Amino acid sequence: MAEGGESDAPAVGDAGVSTRSSIARLVVLVSGNGSNLQAVLDACAPGGPLDGRANVVLVISNASEAYALNRAAEAGVATAVYPHQGRDRSEYDAELAYEARLAGADLVILAGWNRILTDPFLAHHRVINLHPAKPGAFAGLGAIERSFEAWERGEVTSGGVMVHFVPDEGVDSGPVIAWQEVPFHDDDTLVDFEQRIHAMEHRLLVESIGSVLEEETRYE
Ligand code: GRF
Repeated sequence: MAEGGESDAPAVGDAGVSTRSSIARLVVLVSGNGSNLQAVLDACAPGGPLDGRANVVLVISNASEAYALNRAAEAGVATAVYPHQGRDRSEYDAELAYEARLAGADLVILAGWNRILTDPFLAHHRVINLHPAKPGAFAGLGAIERSFEAWERGEVTSGGVMVHFVPDEGVDSGPVIAWQEVPFHDDDTLVDFEQRIHAMEHRLLVESIGSVLEEETRYE
């Protein structure tokens, strides 16, 4: 179960689906540092671009040592840790889905979540993911390093960042919400390129959440 944070979750109806309030309830799944989580938390704070439109209501990590958990606690957001080691994947995903549903999730954000989600989760939630490369490129872990190495070998001329929906178990694939090119510079080191990618991720993730929520409002 989740710990800490404010317990203002809406009632879960018979069908287990929460009623959408005007402020979207975001559940963020993380595994590590959480700089993208931080960008979302900051965006939801007073004066931020998502202020009054979205709140992070729960942060779930599969790693108890993830620094992202500190960021959530610092922001007063509830956290839950679900170690995945030795767990049956379907049961694990069903439990996560239930936890997110209890929190009244309108949208689930994968922000550096290092596991593939399966149908027992995806059937219950709308999920978006962040990938530090262009659509169709460098799927899977280590995408930033692999992009950089490909550039060093002269195989690519730019990198990118993409945010997409996660309708199924495909890795870093699914309908694209937004993507942006990230250039290489002549004297780039991996660290330089990585910083540029992260800066773009932080911006694109927040903009994508905004545009998903706006689309929803338009068709309500
Ligand atoms: C990001 O580069 C994201 O695209 C990838 O994992 C990284 C997470 O960074 N999936 P952080 O934990 O948000 O700082």
